[in-house]
Amino acid sequence: MKCLVTGGAGYIGSHTVISLLDAGHEVVVLDNLSTGHRAAIPAGVRFLHLDLSNAEAITEVVAGEHWDAVLHFAGVSLVGDSMRRPFHYLRDNYITALNLIESCATHGIERFVFSSTAALFGRDNQSGLITDNASIQPGSPYGESKFLIERALHWADCIYGMRSACLRYFNAAGADPQGRLGEDHTPETHLIPLAIDTLLGRRPVLQLFGNDYATRDGTCVRDYIHVTDLADAHIRAIDRLDGGSVAYNLGSGTGFTNLEVVRSIERVGGQKLHWEWAARRPGDPSVLVADSERIRRETGWNPHYRSIDSIVETALRWREAHPHGYGK
Ligand SMILES: NC(=O)c1ccc[n+]([C@@H]2O[C@H](COP(=O)([O-])OP(=O)(O)OC[C@H]3O[C@@H](n4cnc5c(N)ncnc54)[C@H](O)[C@@H]3O)[C@@H](O)[C@H]2O)c1
Repeated sequence: MKCLVTGGAGYIGSHTVISLLDAGHEVVVLDNLSTGHRAAIPAGVRFLHLDLSNAEAITEVVAGEHWDAVLHFAGVSLVGDSMRRPFHYLRDNYITALNLIESCATHGIERFVFSSTAALFGRDNQSGLITDNASIQPGSPYGESKFLIERALHWADCIYGMRSACLRYFNAAGADPQGRLGEDHTPETHLIPLAIDTLLGRRPVLQLFGNDYATRDGTCVRDYIHVTDLADAHIRAIDRLDGGSVAYNLGSGTGFTNLEVVRSIERVGGQKLHWEWAARRPGDPSVLVADSERIRRETGWNPHYRSIDSIVETALRWREAHPHGYGK
């Protein structure tokens, strides 16, 4: 396949680019490098340094050559930031995605894969695993922007026949097991890289936000999925699109509290972590754990990284080898 990957210089996008290349596909990356890294794009991969807000340029790219699939990772994705700047998030994610979706739908693209999110189910969901058809109640403008994009894709299918897979990731974590890529966000807000940097002495202390949630130890519960397993799910989802559009929840099905993640990092790193309590963050639901049975059943997807320690181990290895992320 020949694939156009927006956001392919970012964390999940770059890991998917590598997986597509490893599987023998051709890839072109489109990215504005706002949070992504030129160094995360493998040598030899064509790179289009473009912003998705430039509708005219996007249409030229989409219409200018044949694409078997478009994978859309690009976007802004900090839940907390979206509670402070709601319109920035709604505009940046939704309007830029509309530019891309309209170009794709009206120029005959048949397969589209979209990075959606567990933040669609943003309100507390204590009742168990979150299934693909759980009620959608975004708890933040970020989650809302992703839901709007899912709706645009629904209409792109109904009216233009463009099939799409909306993959609702829970928490992506870990790094390429061969050490070619890793996670390097600025600012970093994800628990595992923050904890690893604290363990490695690059941050003074790790903050755990909230200790009074109704969970087994009072801290939030999240479902961590290895980024290479996520990448594999994208390739399977593209094949699955021959059967029609889909929306899948993507997680491991097991939730870990923030304190359990801290303990995993201490186990894998072999030392104590310096952490402290901080106030809850607005928009953070207490429990988010995926039921991913449907994508397993329908595509044969079977995550390889089953324990939190094995995910942490790949992340730690990359971070140790790259003290300045992609900076050096
Ligand atoms: N990281 C997670 O755990 C997680 C969970 C759920 C959903 N997601 C979604 O997955 C996607 C990828 O997440 P990530 O963690 O890899 O983020 P990231 O910030 O590492 O990657 C996003 C990429 O998109 C590019 N980009 C942003 N705006 C752009 C624009 N207007 N035009 C062109 N390129 C643009 C950035 O430069 C970056 O390379 C995002 O859409 C995010 O919302 C991530």
